[in-house]
Amino acid sequence: MPKEGRHPMSLFSRLFSSEMAIDLGTANTLVYVKGRGIILNEPSVVAYHVRHGRRQVLAVGTEAKLMQGRTPENIEAIRPMRDGVIADFDVAEEMIKFFIRKVHMRSMLTRPKVIVCVPCGATPVEKRAIRQSVLSAGARRAGLIAEPIAAALGADMPIIEPTGNMVVDIGGGTSEVAVLSMGDIVYAQSVRFGGDQMDQAIVNYLRRQQNLLVGEVTAERLKTSIGTARIPDDGRGSAQRVRGRDMLHGVPKEIEVNQTQVAEALAETIQHICEAVMAALEATPPDLAADIVERGVMLTGGGALLADMDMAIREQTGLAVTIANDCLNSVALGTGLALEYEKQFRHVIDYES
Ligand SMILES: Nc1ncnc2c1ncn2[C@@H]1O[C@H](COP(=O)(O)OP(=O)(O)OP(=O)(O)O)[C@@H](O)[C@H]1O
Ligand SMILES: [Mg+2]
Repeated sequence: MPKEGRHPMSLFSRLFSSEMAIDLGTANTLVYVKGRGIILNEPSVVAYHVRHGRRQVLAVGTEAKLMQGRTPENIEAIRPMRDGVIADFDVAEEMIKFFIRKVHMRSMLTRPKVIVCVPCGATPVEKRAIRQSVLSAGARRAGLIAEPIAAALGADMPIIEPTGNMVVDIGGGTSEVAVLSMGDIVYAQSVRFGGDQMDQAIVNYLRRQQNLLVGEVTAERLKTSIGTARIPDDGRGSAQRVRGRDMLHGVPKEIEVNQTQVAEALAETIQHICEAVMAALEATPPDLAADIVERGVMLTGGGALLADMDMAIREQTGLAVTIANDCLNSVALGTGLALEYEKQFRHVIDYES
């Protein structure tokens, strides 16, 4: 894989490129423009104003995420992607259209060609929905690429070589575990356990253990600030104050939550991810499995940023773990590389189904 010259285009083509790669994530959408790199990275959220039963877009992306969980009755903040696939077609289309317009300098004079990644577990119907949304949002052509291939490419793994490479992408909606060799997928599994399930596990834990009702946004903040995949050595770790509603009395309440409690809340989700890694290793042909035991696994996606995630996976699977350099951007970078070097990767980009 060429490492240099990731933007092998003239200045003119670069400024006016109408080819882009989109990582349409459950939590974040990233857009890579050919010759320019990643130029948009925003939460996958759309806020609507609802008046007389009609919806009007109020904000998309970063601005809309600020409204999530805090909207008055006439405003809705919607996440159109769930579990890595489109849950709300109209909202997804609106969001993709907004992002394409934002980065597409030729405005709508030429419609862009777009490559978008899809989870390997997506059904043909789900794939068709993603392709259709991208086309309806203004693309001229829409190609699909499997997310693990993109993640591995973006993490600089030598997937073209005849060796076994395992990548684990822990996103918002899904974790994708895949074994790749010679530029293609040997085994892949997508499990619906990722960052969203971790947030939900924290919500459930606080409700059950502390009678405290908190929203998903508060739970996510707790996870990203003091969350950890392992119980700290002192049995407690650092702590943070969390505000919510007392379930018994219905009044606002603030309590202190420590790292051990968050680790306990997250344990089950992490175990499911580790089980998927073990299942992948067991299903991999022996010679490739031997390569993986030797080289370890590569972690990508926002979930790789959870403190001690690598240690937890190492302890539960016995495999060495590396966290990709730019783990939140790996999939977008890899989809972008497939676009830059499309001739080389034509076999993994699907324009047809
Ligand atoms: N420091 C952190 N610790 C733990 N989790 C984190 C951290 N930073 C981000 N995350 C989580 O990573 C997730 C987002 O990761 P990512 O952008 O890779 O997902 P996505 O690509 O949108 O989702 P998917 O691939 O499932 O469609 C969110 O759930 C977010 O809370
Ligand atoms: Mg992702």
